[in-house]
Amino acid sequence: MSIEARIGIIGGNGWLGSAIAQAAVSSGSIDPTRLTLSGRSDRRVDIPGAKWTHDNKNLVERSDVVVLSVRPDQFPGVLIDARGKLVVSVMAGVSAQTIADGTNTHEIVRSIPNAAAAIRRSFTPWFATASVSAENKRVVHQLFEACGESAEVPIEFHVDYCAGMTGTGAAFPALLAEALVAHAVSQGLPPDFAKRAAKGLVAGASQLFASGDVDPADIVKEMIDYRGLTAAALQAMLDGGFNHVVASGLEAAAAKAATIIRN
Ligand SMILES: NC(=O)c1ccc[n+]([C@@H]2O[C@H](COP(=O)([O-])OP(=O)(O)OC[C@H]3O[C@@H](n4cnc5c(N)ncnc54)[C@H](OP(=O)(O)O)[C@@H]3O)[C@@H](O)[C@H]2O)c1
Repeated sequence: MSIEARIGIIGGNGWLGSAIAQAAVSSGSIDPTRLTLSGRSDRRVDIPGAKWTHDNKNLVERSDVVVLSVRPDQFPGVLIDARGKLVVSVMAGVSAQTIADGTNTHEIVRSIPNAAAAIRRSFTPWFATASVSAENKRVVHQLFEACGESAEVPIEFHVDYCAGMTGTGAAFPALLAEALVAHAVSQGLPPDFAKRAAKGLVAGASQLFASGDVDPADIVKEMIDYRGLTAAALQAMLDGGFNHVVASGLEAAAAKAATIIRN
C-alpha cells in the first residue's frame, strides 16, 4: 500500500533529503505529486511530478508530514508552524523537545538514516514522541522501509546512540577494509589486487548478512569451534583487544555527540 499522506521535505535538495525523496518515489511508496521539496538555493534533483519551493510555509501548507532534512546548525533558520502535523527529523543531535519548540507541534519523530539510503539499504532507527498517532507511525515506517529497513526504538537516547553506530554507514567496514589492504600490501600483494580483495570480502559479507536471518555471534562461534586458520585470526584479534577498540570508538562517537546535542 502506498503512502496516502502528503510529504514535504525541507532540505529536499540536500544529500539525504533528496535520497529519501528518490527512494520513496522509485520504490513506488509514494506518488511524486504528493511530495513537496524545498531548499534555499536553486540546486535540486529531478523528481518529475514533485513540487519544488523556496517557501517552507508553503511546503507546510501542502503537507501532512514535514521531514526536516537540514543540518543541525541550519535548523534555527527554519521558521515553520507545523501545528497539528507530524514533523520527522533526520538531524543528528537535535532533541525532540527542541524540534517541538521550533515547529509548534508535539508530534515529533527523530530518526537516523545513513548513507546507504541512496541505494535503499539504510538501516533507520526512529523514535516517536507519545503524541504520534499509530497512523502516522505507519507512514514513518513506510517511508523508511522505502529507504531500506525501518526500526522503531522505545527511547530517544537510542537514536542519539545510533548516530555513532548505524548512522556512520560504510565507515566502520571501510576502516576494516583499509586495515586488510594495508596488511596485504605490507606482505607484498599488489595494492590494486589487495583493494579489490578487501572490497570483495566486505561486499560479499554484506550480501550474506542481507540475505537472511544471520546472527554474527553464530558465525564467529562456528569459525572458532572449527579451529582452522580463521579461528587463529579471530582469536588473535580478540586477544589483541578488538572488542575494546570497537567499544572505545563508539564511546568516542557518543562523547562527540554530547558536545553537539542541542537540548
Ligand atoms: N549524510 C548522512 O549520511 C546523514 C546521516 C544521518 C543523518 N544525517 C542528517 O541529515 C541532515 C542533512 O544532512 P545532509 O548530509 O543531507 O546535508 P546537506 O546535503 O547539506 O543538506 C541540507 C540541505 O538543507 C537545505 N537547507 C538549509 N536550510 C534550509 C532552509 N531554511 N530551508 C530549506 N532548505 C534548507 C540546504 O539547501 P541550500 O543549499 O539550498 O541552502 C541543503 O541542501 C543533517 O541534519 C544530518 O545530521 C545525515
